[in-house]
Amino acid sequence: MRSLWQRIPLAGRLSLDAAMLLSMAVLIDPRASGIAIHEWLGIIIAPVIVFHLTLNWGWVVATTKKLLGRLPTETRLNQVLDLVLFATMAIAIWSGVEISESALPAMGFPERVSFSWREIHEVSSNLSMVLVGAHAALHWKWVVRTTRRLVGLPNRRPPVPATVSADAGTP
Ligand code: HEM
Repeated sequence: MRSLWQRIPLAGRLSLDAAMLLSMAVLIDPRASGIAIHEWLGIIIAPVIVFHLTLNWGWVVATTKKLLGRLPTETRLNQVLDLVLFATMAIAIWSGVEISESALPAMGFPERVSFSWREIHEVSSNLSMVLVGAHAALHWKWVVRTTRRLVGLPNRRPPVPATVSADAGTP
């Protein structure tokens, strides 16, 4: 049976990834976007990350099973980076909610002033930005292959060693 990832059209997967990257670019500077846009975007991105993870779950499970075995360095690096990225994004979103000045008060929650949550948000969000850049760079081959397929250009397939099958269809 085809996985959820395989059933979503390529253009849809690529658009979702592009939208997430664009959202991260907007999130970098709350003063430029305005705090309300920053906060709502930060809240909306949480279920999108979970959806993105669900779509790529097959790859996560396949490579996790092989973590102790032989894996190409790039795949292993990807896994560790993805795990750290997920943790820092979760902390960035949670700490953002804790210091919310606009979205949470608009929903009726009282505004809380917390210096430590603010510091945690600053560190985790800045770290997330760096890791998102590395994440996009490490998956760039997939982005290029997919874009070429979508515009009808041929892709040259490099020979894949037999032990690397977990990497097949890597997003
Ligand atoms: C992945 C999600 C998020 C990222 C990447 C992110 C990123 C950032 C960045 C880079 C800053 C500036 C920190 C600095 O001064 O160096 C910031 C500030 C802030 N963020 Fe977020 N954020 C996210 C989610 C949220 C959420 C969900 C909320 C609230 C619901 C939020 C509320 C705030 C607030 C109140 C500030 C302080 C703005 C100020 O300086 O007055 N953020 N965020």
